Amino acid sequence: MVLNSTTLKECLSNASRIKVDESLGPKTTLRVGGHADLFLQPASRDDLIAALRWSRMHGVPVTMLGRGSNLLILDGGIRGLVISLSDRFFSRIEVQDERLTCGAGARLKQLAETSRMAGLSGLEFLEGIPGCVGGALHMNAGAMQQWTFDRVEKITTMDREGDLHVWKGSEVEVHYRSCPLLREHIAIEAVFLGTQSNPSVIRKTMDNYSRRRRLSQPVASSAGCMFKNPDHISAGKLIDELGLKGTRVGEAMISELHGNFIVNLGGAVAADVVSLIKLVQERVMSAHQIELEVEVQVVGE
Ligand code: EPU
Repeated sequence: MVLNSTTLKECLSNASRIKVDESLGPKTTLRVGGHADLFLQPASRDDLIAALRWSRMHGVPVTMLGRGSNLLILDGGIRGLVISLSDRFFSRIEVQDERLTCGAGARLKQLAETSRMAGLSGLEFLEGIPGCVGGALHMNAGAMQQWTFDRVEKITTMDREGDLHVWKGSEVEVHYRSCPLLREHIAIEAVFLGTQSNPSVIRKTMDNYSRRRRLSQPVASSAGCMFKNPDHISAGKLIDELGLKGTRVGEAMISELHGNFIVNLGGAVAADVVSLIKLVQERVMSAHQIELEVEVQVVGE
């Protein structure tokens, strides 16, 4: 699709950044995938609203990009407009009493650290998740048997017409690794509720989580766990028991440390990763009659 960025630029303030034909692989932790026709970092809510209205008017599809930590972008890239809320405006974290108000672009590591410094516990499990608040809400991200929405008091979303909505966290439907509301709406802000505690106790919990993660998960480029765990079974364990660790397609490899991670050895393309996903799904199906569902969001063409 050849898109004219001039009419979009005219709707936005100068502070918003637009790029044409932007390479997306480097914006993901797996580091594969093609280009976006247009890539926008809006610098305000008004600019985000203007971009959504422009895209509706011109029939341009919109894809939201978080920190790309749970994302597999295909080699043909993403048609239309890709929007990232990584501008400072969307990345603020403010603490008041036991509440942390965060923009969707705020990094989870930063949120966990801010919470620790404020003496608020309950968000330690976010320390090692390389995503942002918007992505974590969208996926109801979890680790150490805790889930993002466990601690959400309130979220603010924007619908595709640019209208804002506020929801109580307890009223939002969430599941293991999904939040149906955020398939349509865009998360703008969330209020997390912490519990008063001692920063040094919180530090110990975070260090413990971080040590467990270092021992069981690879540090190489990956999108985290590739598959959802089927009921009561670890997908990584299933893959491990089938002897698939170390299996390679091109430069993509099933991690030798954790069976549910596909790592990029350096020069992988999305097609390598897709072939490995299919290979794993076929082997698990034929050995156990279990259909492994991909957890990572696959986007693009
Ligand atoms: N195991 C193996 N071999 C492997 C991997 C795991 O035997 O190759 C065994 C482990 O020894 C353990 C069990 O399987 O006994 C479970 O493993 P682990 O604790 O690593 O948990 P997981 O179920 O594989 C889940 C989440 C992770 C999260 C960890 C820690 C999913 C799909 N994965 O992994 O989340 O970090 O628990 O809480 O729910 C992610 O979603 O991207 C992710 C990394």
